[in-house]
Amino acid sequence: MTKNNESFDFAAWTKLLPPSEIRALLEYKVKYNFGGGLPGALPIETLSDILIEIGNENKEDYTTGKKGKAISLWNYGPTGGQEFCLRVLAERLRRIDDINLDKETGWKDIILTAGSQQAIYAILDTMIDPGDVILTPSPAYLGFLAPAYKIGAEIVTIPTDLDGMIPEYVEKAIPLCEKKFGKKPNILYVVPDSDNPKGTTLPWKRRKALFDIGEEHDILILEDQAYKEIQFQGELIKPIKSLDRDNSRVAYLRTTSKEAAVLRMGYSVLPESLKYEVLKSKGYLDLCSPTILQKVMAIYYKKYIDKVLPVCLKTYEKNAIAMLKGINETFPAGSHTKPNGGFFVWYESEKQFNSKEFLMKTSIPNDIMFVPGAAFYPIKGWSIEESDSTIVDSIAKTNTMRLGYSYNNDKDIYEGITKLGKLLTKELD
Ligand SMILES: Cc1ncc(COP(=O)(O)O)c(C=O)c1O
Repeated sequence: MTKNNESFDFAAWTKLLPPSEIRALLEYKVKYNFGGGLPGALPIETLSDILIEIGNENKEDYTTGKKGKAISLWNYGPTGGQEFCLRVLAERLRRIDDINLDKETGWKDIILTAGSQQAIYAILDTMIDPGDVILTPSPAYLGFLAPAYKIGAEIVTIPTDLDGMIPEYVEKAIPLCEKKFGKKPNILYVVPDSDNPKGTTLPWKRRKALFDIGEEHDILILEDQAYKEIQFQGELIKPIKSLDRDNSRVAYLRTTSKEAAVLRMGYSVLPESLKYEVLKSKGYLDLCSPTILQKVMAIYYKKYIDKVLPVCLKTYEKNAIAMLKGINETFPAGSHTKPNGGFFVWYESEKQFNSKEFLMKTSIPNDIMFVPGAAFYPIKGWSIEESDSTIVDSIAKTNTMRLGYSYNNDKDIYEGITKLGKLLTKELD
């Protein structure tokens, strides 16, 4: 990426916010790439069949005089999405995830966005004034932290363990935020299933505890279930949103990106007043989502997902097993997560080291990429000190790594991870 042209008078935030570290790393061409989170098991045959089906239907509509219907496939549509698509999503969210959507009118509670990333941005845009407070897990999804920082939020990170965010610290954080910032948090952000970057899954008891805290303190819970459908082991746990029977507490985000294809289509269930504001924001961002992609989604979720997704999940499971085997055999002392789903393993070494320096000096020259864990802490923010429960400056843990297994095949993953483990062992010895 080229540097800002200093001859323009850019907005102040452009100087504060660097480009995404992950995007920059993706520019390196290496043999063993554990850096990105690209889905590697997509239902390509199904997707091409869907495109043919759509094309044939469109041609037939046009040639048999249904011109309005034929043209609507290629035209602007409602900002929040087309009824035919929203109805399919509503049925699935009700049936599988126990989300309380009315059989007849529930589809109106769902909106489409350009990936769930746009929903994240639009929610921050509508909820946060500079100086407002947000609680996130530590570490957290970079695509949430960076826009939150850009918009001027005070980001307070909450300790996590191998089960994700720890609700006791959320409870402790609230009065501490009131004392330090003069206000309670507006948003509690959580990725309950196989989160990015750690790959941990929040048990039901914690989901319920977070919901109760949100209710008690009147805080919006932003539940990002990007990896909800990518679950290959363990029991399936219902979303926090299933507790929100009157759709008033939880902004619930889902996406096609991991489970169907990177169509740049996210789907959210939002409380009514938030939906209104987010639609206003989206309306000025992109006017509406493409109708043809909604057609792809509707057909995929109605007819195919239950048949083809299990095949994709088998691939991710095989990849995860290969990565964990390689880590267990070769990595130096430390801890790592054991994901039930999603795309990532998180490793933290016992000995201190700087994983970014190691990446640049040793790993990339040896054809291996990963994302240094420091990328998943706020550029500037706060954290709850685990020992004495005070708010202190957030400090990134540099002895950590996010290792992605979604894209390569299991054989290459094992080969690359064992190579990385040996290099790391040598470095830390
Ligand atoms: C936790 C999480 N949330 C949201 C997103 C955004 O995904 P998309 O915009 O493709 O829906 C991602 C993408 O990696 C993610 O990991």
